[in-house]
Amino acid sequence: MSTAQYKKLALNHAFTPDTVVLCDSNQKGAPVMSKNYAVFLSILLFTIFATTTRGRPTSDQNQFPAGYVPPGDLIFKQYCAACHGADAKGWGPARAALKIPAADLTTLAKRHDGKFPHEYVTGVLRFGFAKPAHGSADMRTWGPIFEYLDHYNEGAVQQRIKNLCDYLASMQEQ
Ligand code: HEC
Repeated sequence: MSTAQYKKLALNHAFTPDTVVLCDSNQKGAPVMSKNYAVFLSILLFTIFATTTRGRPTSDQNQFPAGYVPPGDLIFKQYCAACHGADAKGWGPARAALKIPAADLTTLAKRHDGKFPHEYVTGVLRFGFAKPAHGSADMRTWGPIFEYLDHYNEGAVQQRIKNLCDYLASMQEQ
């Protein structure tokens, strides 16, 4: 397609992405739009894009069926690693801001007779710490947050906690 033909086509379809190509000054011989106009056009296109896509469900919501629970390593990275560290050893980037250091979660088995304490961890996540000395405001009770995330689907909440426990169990020091 010649440049002239292209320009005509683009003008016929004013405000389509085709028009923007004309801004590319690297294209030999292509007419170059004024910079201001190009900026204006980009903003306009962006606004149209932003307003037409607003309110639609995100692709995530399209992709995952209701009740979908991410794998444990992903949940951990997203919600726990900031304090407990990516390796779960308690050295997350938020450590300095905590009143009590985040626990080393890789020694849970060691500290519970060599067996990963599924019930204890499930309880802590779901209901918080039983001992008053523990449960600093820093480590929140995750139950209500998971309930919210999982749209109060009890099966999904339990699955989420199980995924987390299974992941932590796989991270235990021998
Ligand atoms: C805002 C920081 C923070 C985040 C985020 C956080 N924790 Fe904690 N966590 C702590 C702190 C601090 C403690 C120690 C609390 C105490 O002993 O009172 C702790 C303790 C724990 C314990 C008890 C450990 C033990 O040795 O008894 C478990 C289990 C635990 N966290 C799991 C998690 C999981 C799983 C997540 C993610 C869903 C998470 N935590 C997110 C700060 C955090």
